[in-house]
Amino acid sequence: MSLPSFQAAVVVEKLGGPEVLEHRTDYPVPTPGDGQVLVRNAVSGINFIDTYFRTGLYPSAKPEVLGREAAGTIVALGPNTEKHQLKVGDRLVWLGPSAYAEYTAVSAAKAVKIPDGLSEETAAASFMSGLTAITLVQETYKVKKDEWVLLHAAAGGVGILLSQVLKHLGAKVIATAGGKEKVALVKDLGVDHVIDYRDEKGKDWVKLVKEITNGNGVDVVYDSVGKDTWEGSLEVVKRKGTVVWFGNSSGPVPPLPLPRLSAKCIKIARPSLLGYIETREELVYYCGQLFQLLTSEKVKVRIHNVYPLTQIRQAHQDLEGRKTTGKLLLNPSA
Ligand SMILES: NC(=O)c1ccc[n+]([C@@H]2O[C@H](COP(=O)([O-])OP(=O)(O)OC[C@H]3O[C@@H](n4cnc5c(N)ncnc54)[C@H](OP(=O)(O)O)[C@@H]3O)[C@@H](O)[C@H]2O)c1
Repeated sequence: MSLPSFQAAVVVEKLGGPEVLEHRTDYPVPTPGDGQVLVRNAVSGINFIDTYFRTGLYPSAKPEVLGREAAGTIVALGPNTEKHQLKVGDRLVWLGPSAYAEYTAVSAAKAVKIPDGLSEETAAASFMSGLTAITLVQETYKVKKDEWVLLHAAAGGVGILLSQVLKHLGAKVIATAGGKEKVALVKDLGVDHVIDYRDEKGKDWVKLVKEITNGNGVDVVYDSVGKDTWEGSLEVVKRKGTVVWFGNSSGPVPPLPLPRLSAKCIKIARPSLLGYIETREELVYYCGQLFQLLTSEKVKVRIHNVYPLTQIRQAHQDLEGRKTTGKLLLNPSA
């Protein structure tokens, strides 16, 4: 199969808003290096983390092709990939840099084969978000049946999957989401209580969570909103509970003086997915669990939209403008 020399990709040269996302059609198709395979991406995931690399909240070398995950087909093998038993034509889902592109040279160690019966769309829509959900409930805090959990932004890409995973574990889940449509969507997932934290009553979600839990508070809070919800999250966690801060959708949280933990003997966690799946064994282990949840339909993905690559600025505006539910995907060839 002959490969093109140039491709379409979204390149960021300088930090800024969605306007710095440059759709280019003259980006070189990479040659797979040591331990890499060249993947023709069918679909790429758009994650909130991509906005952090765009704005500089998280550092990364520029210029860069944005995007951190995609699913597609192997079109060429680089040197020293034999041990992964991959071949041209295999369907892969992968994590790594440069996903907003038609072709990416991907580390074979960070990619896994998509099981038969799962589409590339489902694989990309569930990969980073689903692995995050699973590791949050197993590694960061081991959620047990009948425990009270507060989950913020439950209608988002991670939120929808984490809601389902929590219910699958038998937790009692209180979720927050912004707006009637999002609230209805999360209720449909079987979540016990859903609070619209943007309407008049729901703005006082701290009071509502305390009422629901008879004044006791929750065992664990999963907070990816950050700045705007952080103080409330610390307030509604029960004595000896855990607050997990795993994202900055409204901005990073302020520094926390450690003596604040002692009043209720609480624990704070600041996890990162990549830290939980650093080794091949860890990646394969958690992918096995994710694929099992998907193929058994215990967890279902919800795709907000598949944006053409040319519409990447709109996609980032929608995501940061809180207009989306579930996962945003990108078609790199459109
Ligand atoms: N630590 C890790 O390893 C890890 C891995 C993956 C994702 N994450 C984090 O998980 C979070 C969710 O990621 P995602 O890609 O699935 O995004 P997402 O949840 O689909 O989108 C972010 C959501 O956050 C809510 N939000 C609240 N305040 C906001 C504000 N001021 N601006 C924008 N959004 C706001 C919005 O929902 P409402 O309208 O309902 O408020 C929005 O839809 C992100 O913070 C991300 O960084 C962390």
